[in-house]
Amino acid sequence: MHPRPLNAYVDAVGAIDWDRRLFDSLIPLPDGTSYNAYLVRSEGKTALIETVDPSKRHVLFANLESVERLDYLIAHHAEQDHSGLIPEVLARYPEAVLICSPKAKSMLADHVRVAEGRIRTVADGETLTMGGLTFEFIHTPWVHWPETMVTYLREAKILFSCDFFGSHAAQSDLFVRDESLIDLAAKRYFGEIMMPFRTAIQKNLDRLAPLDIALIAPSHGPVYGDPKAIMAAYRDWVSETPKNEVAIPYISMHGSTALMVERLVSGLAGRGVCVTPFNLDDVDLGKLATVLVDAATLVIGTPAVHIGPHPRVASVVFLANALRPKLKFVSILGSYGWGHKITDTIAAMTPNLKAEMLPPVICRGLPREAELAAVDALAGTIAARHAALGLK
Ligand code: FEO
Repeated sequence: MHPRPLNAYVDAVGAIDWDRRLFDSLIPLPDGTSYNAYLVRSEGKTALIETVDPSKRHVLFANLESVERLDYLIAHHAEQDHSGLIPEVLARYPEAVLICSPKAKSMLADHVRVAEGRIRTVADGETLTMGGLTFEFIHTPWVHWPETMVTYLREAKILFSCDFFGSHAAQSDLFVRDESLIDLAAKRYFGEIMMPFRTAIQKNLDRLAPLDIALIAPSHGPVYGDPKAIMAAYRDWVSETPKNEVAIPYISMHGSTALMVERLVSGLAGRGVCVTPFNLDDVDLGKLATVLVDAATLVIGTPAVHIGPHPRVASVVFLANALRPKLKFVSILGSYGWGHKITDTIAAMTPNLKAEMLPPVICRGLPREAELAAVDALAGTIAARHAALGLK
C-alpha cells in the first residue's frame, strides 16, 4: 500500500497484512491485520512513528524511498511487530535519533538489538518541537507492556496510540468506515491483548481525558476519525461491572458433558441470560476472549481425562486465568469414567479469577435426571445472582 495522507503533516506509511491468520502463534486473525507507521513532515524536518513487522520490510522501505533524511524515529513499544525494523531504519538514516520511554531503552536493546547510543529517552509529559509541530509524549504503562507510551501531536490534535485502541483488521480505507468495528475487531483485540491490564488502562484513559483529540491513529487497524465512540467503549470494557452474560467453553468425549451444556444453555436462555457455548473441538479463541470482556459467569464443561480436565479445556482455563476477566461467578459441568479431580485441578489453575465458585455438577457417565435437575438449579442460581447484582 502506497503512502496515504492523514492530514497536511502526516502520511500513513505502514503495511496491511491481508493474509496473516495467526498472531503470536496464538491469536486468530480472521480479518488479517495492519502494522501502521506514520511519517510526520514539517519545515524540512521528518519524524517516523513506529516501523512495521519485519515480514513487511519491503512495504515500509518502498514508502520511505523519497525520504532522504529522518530526524526522529519514535518508538512507543518494544514488541517486534512495531520495533522489528528499527535497527534497519536507523542504519539507513544515521542522523536519526530514536525516541522512546526510559523503560523501552533496555527492552529495545534486548529484543531488537538497538544500539543504546542512538536512543534519547523522554520523560512522561515531555515535549519535542520539530518544524513548528509539538510532540507530547505520554507514558501509558501496561497497554500492554510496561514500557508503552503514546504521542500527542498538538497542532494536529492526533493521538498516536500504538496498540492502545488498536484492532486486528486489514482494510483499504485508512479511516474507520463502519463503527461496528468497535464491537467486533477492537473489542476482540481488547479481550485478547489488553484485558489483563484493565486497572492500568483505566488510569491511562484518565490521563488522556484532558486532551482535545481529533484523530486516534493506532498501530493496528484503521484510524478513528471520531475518537469518542472507541474511548467510551474502552471505558465500558475496563469497568468492573460485567453484563448479564455467560460463557461456556466445553468439550465432550462421549456426549455426557454436551448433554449438560445443552441443558444449561437452554435453562439460562429461558431465564433471560445471554449465553454463548464454545465447543473446544474447533474454537475461535478470539471470540471467546471477546465474550469474556463482558461475561459475569464462566461455566467450564469437561470430561475427565484420567482424573483431570480434558487437555483442551485445561488450555482454555489457563488462558482465561491469564486474561483476568471481570467474572463474578465460575462453575463446572463434567462427567467422568471412574474417578476425577476436575474441580480441584481447575481451582488450582485459576488463582487470578476472583470469582465465586457456584456448585459444580459432575456426574459418572451419562447424567441422570437428578443431575440434569442440578444443572437446571445452576441455571436458576446464575440467573438469580446476576439479577441480584442488577446486571444488564
Ligand atoms: Fe502490536 Fe504489542 O504489539
